Amino acid sequence: MRSKVTVVGAGMVGATTAQYLAQRNIADVVLVDIVENLPQGKALDLAEAGPVIGYGVSVTGANDYEATAGSDVVVITSGSPRKPGMSRDDLLRVNMNIVRSVTEQVAKHSPDCVIIVVTNPLDAMCHVALQASGFPANRVLGQAGVLDSARFRAFIAMELDVSPKDVNAFVLGGHGDTMVPLTRYSSVGGIPIDQLISAERIASIVQRTRDGGGEIVKLLGTSAYYAPAASVVDMVEAVLLDQNRVIACSAHLGGEFGLKDLYVGVPVKLGAGGIKSVIEIDLTDDERSALQHSANAVTELVAAMERLQQEA
Ligand code: NAI
Ligand code: 2OP
Repeated sequence: MRSKVTVVGAGMVGATTAQYLAQRNIADVVLVDIVENLPQGKALDLAEAGPVIGYGVSVTGANDYEATAGSDVVVITSGSPRKPGMSRDDLLRVNMNIVRSVTEQVAKHSPDCVIIVVTNPLDAMCHVALQASGFPANRVLGQAGVLDSARFRAFIAMELDVSPKDVNAFVLGGHGDTMVPLTRYSSVGGIPIDQLISAERIASIVQRTRDGGGEIVKLLGTSAYYAPAASVVDMVEAVLLDQNRVIACSAHLGGEFGLKDLYVGVPVKLGAGGIKSVIEIDLTDDERSALQHSANAVTELVAAMERLQQEA
C-alpha cells in the first residue's frame, strides 16, 4: 500500500507542497482547506498533470478530514499571513486557534502520523500542535531549518559562482530575525567557507539569510512558497523513506543545548517515526549565546500565547 500524506492549507505553501510531493511519486496526497472547492480544484489540476509529468499517485482535495484518515505524515500550512494593522499578538491569536483546531482533527483521524508544522510563527505553532495532538514530541516538528539553511547555501553558491549542490551549511535557532547561521559548520566541497569568502562578505551573507523571508515578501508582496515547499518535501521524504537525514528543524528540546521544553531549530536525525535524535554539536560561547538569544525570542512568544489563552 502507498503511503499517504495530508497537507492542510491549500494556499501557496500547501498547494506547492502537494505539487512537489506528487512529483516525487512517493505517496498519495490529500489537500485540505476550509475554502469550499479550493482543495478539490487544485488537487484535480495536480492529478491532471500526472500523465504529462509522469507521476501516478492520487491527489485529492477535501474540506473535512475523512479522506485524511490514516495519513503517515500531515503537513500543517493553514493560517493567516500578517495583514496591515495586525499586531504580532493578533497574528498569534488567529494562527494558534487555526493550528489548534486543525491539529485536533489531524490527531483524531491519523493518530499515528508525524506532524510537520509550517504555519508561522513557526516555533510557537509547534508548541500548539504538540499540546493539541497529545503526540510524543518526536512526532511533532517544524519546518524552518531546511529553508533557512537552503537560503544560506544558495547565497554562498551565488557568491562563489559554484554549484549549490556542493555547499553545506546550516542554521540554528528560531525561525525569525534571531536565527543563527553557523558559518563555522559551513563548507563548499568540504572546504570551510572562511577560506573562500572574506569575513566582511560572510557577515553580509549571514544577514541576508536572516532577512531571507522579508526579502521575498518585499519582492512578491506575500511570503515565499517554492523554497518552503521544497524544504517540507525533503522532510516528508526523510520520514516516509526512513532516510535518517541529518537536517535542521524545529524540535522539542528536553535539555539539549541547555534548553528545556522549548521548540527551537537544531540539527536532528530524521527518519521513520519522526525525530530519532537531536544532534548536540559543539558551540563556541558566541554561538551558544546567539542560540540562547534566539530561544529567548521563542520563549517570549510562548508566554504571549499563554497570556492570550488566559484572556480568552
Ligand atoms: P496562504 O494564505 O496562501 O494559505 C493559507 C491557507 O490556509 C488558505 O488557503 C486558507 O484558506 C487556509 N486555512 C485557513 N484556516 C484554515 C483551517 N482552519 N483549516 C484549513 N485550512 C485553513 O498562506 P501561505 O503563503 O500558504 O502560508 C501559510 C503559512 O505558512 C503562513 O502562516 C506563513 O507565514 C507560513 N510560512 C512558513 C514558512 C516556514 O518556513 N515555516 C515559510 C513560508 C510560509
Ligand atoms: C519565510 O521565511 C515567511 O517564514 C516565511 O519565507
